[in-house]
Amino acid sequence: MTPELMEEGARRVSAYAALAARDKTESGGRAAAGGRPVVPGEVDVAHGRILYLDDVSVSFDGFRAINKLSLDIAPGELRCIIGPNGAGKTTMMDIITGKTRPDAGSVFFGSTIDLLRYKEAEIAGMGIGRKFQKPTVFEQLTVFENLELALKTDKRVPASVFFQASSEDRDRLAQVLRTIHLADSVNRQAGNLSHGQKQWLEIGMLLMQDPKLLLLDEPVAGMTDEETERTAELFLSLKGKHSLMVVEHDMSFIQAISEKVTVLHEGSVLAEGTLQQVQGDERVIEVYLGR
Ligand SMILES: Nc1ncnc2c1ncn2[C@@H]1O[C@H](COP(=O)(O)OP(=O)(O)OP(=O)(O)O)[C@@H](O)[C@H]1O
Ligand SMILES: [Mg+2]
Repeated sequence: MTPELMEEGARRVSAYAALAARDKTESGGRAAAGGRPVVPGEVDVAHGRILYLDDVSVSFDGFRAINKLSLDIAPGELRCIIGPNGAGKTTMMDIITGKTRPDAGSVFFGSTIDLLRYKEAEIAGMGIGRKFQKPTVFEQLTVFENLELALKTDKRVPASVFFQASSEDRDRLAQVLRTIHLADSVNRQAGNLSHGQKQWLEIGMLLMQDPKLLLLDEPVAGMTDEETERTAELFLSLKGKHSLMVVEHDMSFIQAISEKVTVLHEGSVLAEGTLQQVQGDERVIEVYLGR
């Protein structure tokens, strides 16, 4: 979730609370301009890459968390990233999303957009959605309100509690509700959902913005086996329409969704291939899987 969305959510939570205390018949109707933050043109994937990291390094107090990391993702690909604790997986996502600036290297979205020139909110606005490990939905709002909120993140327009969703927005909302298996829970308060459902709702909030690339950090941590299986189905259904980068430690989940797997270790790519190939790699067994 972006800082802007957090802010807007907090505003909505208090606005909804105030309205709940009043006669609800007065609510609704006020339209606000939609739109999305700065988008510097379409993403050029003619070279077969939606994301491209080249020779990226970053150090924290002399410790090199990312070390000459090079990696690329094809449009529509579902890439799995595995590796031991501290390998630099989350830091890599921090760099892609503009949260952390690397000391060296380049990071491109498509072949023309140099992500290192943009701020975190601008990168989110370009269609790179990020899911952190902990679900960050607005617990006091309903499933519907959370998804509706995700439609409107443009900070250039005045704050408004309600806005009129276009028919296209409504169609997308209905579609996302089905995709995340929450169509039957549309009016439930998000705080009452299970951990897994909250995770799906947050993924749904990202999908409302129709991201080109989704970065998901340990999405099934804390889920039941059944929720994990449904999440695997969900990710497989997103593949092709979106490009996904999924960091996970849960090997049965990786097994269910993976095509190409990248193993990170000490800030660099240690191995890459199918899960079977990397599982058979001596170096991978030594640093990660053999533990
Ligand atoms: N902002 C920061 N300041 C200092 N050190 C950091 C910072 N961010 C990450 N690190 C360090 O960089 C290394 C890589 O951390 P990172 O969180 O990227 O690992 P990870 O692969 O995501 O691990 P895990 O599987 O445990 O989530 C760790 O040693 C971590 O302590
Ligand atoms: Mg991590």
